[in-house]
Amino acid sequence: MDIFAKCREFDPVRLYGPLVGSAYFRPVLASTRPGEVMVNGRSVVMAGSNDYLGLARDPRLAEAAVRAVREYGMGGLGARAMCGTREVHEQLEGSCAAFLGREAAVIAPSGFQTNLLLAGLMGKGDVVLGDRQNHASLVDAVRLAGADYHRFRRGDVARAESLLDRAVPGAGRIIITDGLFSMEGDLCDLPGITELAARHEARVVVDCAHDLGLIGAMGRGAPEHFGLEGRVDLVTATFSKSLGSAGGVLAGPAEVIDFVRFCSRATVFTAAMAPPVAAAALAALEIVRAEPERRERALDVAERMHNGLRALGFDTGSSVSPIIPVAVGDQDRCLSLWQRLLDAGVYVNPIVAPGRPVGQEMLRVSFTPAHTDDQLERVLDVFATAGRAEGVIPHAPPGSWTPVRIARPTTCRLPAPQQPTVATAC
Ligand SMILES: Cc1ncc(COP(=O)(O)O)c(C=O)c1O
Repeated sequence: MDIFAKCREFDPVRLYGPLVGSAYFRPVLASTRPGEVMVNGRSVVMAGSNDYLGLARDPRLAEAAVRAVREYGMGGLGARAMCGTREVHEQLEGSCAAFLGREAAVIAPSGFQTNLLLAGLMGKGDVVLGDRQNHASLVDAVRLAGADYHRFRRGDVARAESLLDRAVPGAGRIIITDGLFSMEGDLCDLPGITELAARHEARVVVDCAHDLGLIGAMGRGAPEHFGLEGRVDLVTATFSKSLGSAGGVLAGPAEVIDFVRFCSRATVFTAAMAPPVAAAALAALEIVRAEPERRERALDVAERMHNGLRALGFDTGSSVSPIIPVAVGDQDRCLSLWQRLLDAGVYVNPIVAPGRPVGQEMLRVSFTPAHTDDQLERVLDVFATAGRAEGVIPHAPPGSWTPVRIARPTTCRLPAPQQPTVATAC
């Protein structure tokens, strides 16, 4: 049997419908207008990127990258262990460790690859527990290592506990979770996880890919938000989202980071991160540290847009963050709503199977501090018209709706209050 046979039979249009060809892998070009991109020759509002702090096109990142290109050239000279380590890599690692309040850090050319570094810490017989919605790279790290992987539903500490109870004595134990979930925009149950880990002598790893720079008083992610940094053993994060660059970091105790440097195949057998990419990430980290107002504006914008969409009748789920999941619940309707929004000048991401269970199709919407009030109002108008036309929201706004509770530093340690119900004037 030809292993390529399935490729010849693969027909995305038959699987996902006629719009799939235009909804995915579409080139998105730069626009001269902040907060917008060019699609099909038209400037449209970008309401779907992971550039949560609006740093991807910040001139300070570009300048840092250009300086690094002049100094080092484009590529690394080889693997980090051989001749690939440059000053900028060490500076970035030092800066990440300091920012995250950890002893040491190691970087990798992508966030995905950073998570694969974890495979070096695990092996056959070790027991790894992971949230059901953990990112694919965390799951793949466990698979690569050949460790036993068990998934648990968020908040289901009892099930997680029963899985750890079954671990054979002497097996290594790790609990791994995303900090902020990339589709639902909600936070992990870190209090439950760290309690459980303490009872079972398990290590805790949090992937702060989406929360870095955004969540927590200083932007150190979910561990900081919950006041549990001291009970999290390792943090991973990517530079490709809030930091507007690429690559990732694993941070934790110096002895663990050293071990990973020498023993993880994903770092030993790969070239160093491109120096300009590292320099841009370093510049971005400095901006995150120096300009907390970006984070505040990002959260303000998120709150305004969540509530604006909810007031129209959209369901933005359990998100507490700038990741706004707009529930649609049907593949054709989801793609059709996406097309209407784009036609009206708003770019969002349609999330359908296999990225999402059938019946839970959604639009993934997000904004940056760079969006103007004008753009945000325009987006809400476009959503109102398109959502009504597709029957996703009623023609009249709902009589009442529940406001979002954004994960702000000032609210993070308070017990969840009763959600007020807001009556809309209609
Ligand atoms: C939770 C999580 N971890 C890791 C990654 C991988 O990061 P990168 O895209 O920088 O490789 C992603 C990317 O989407 C992610 O959402």
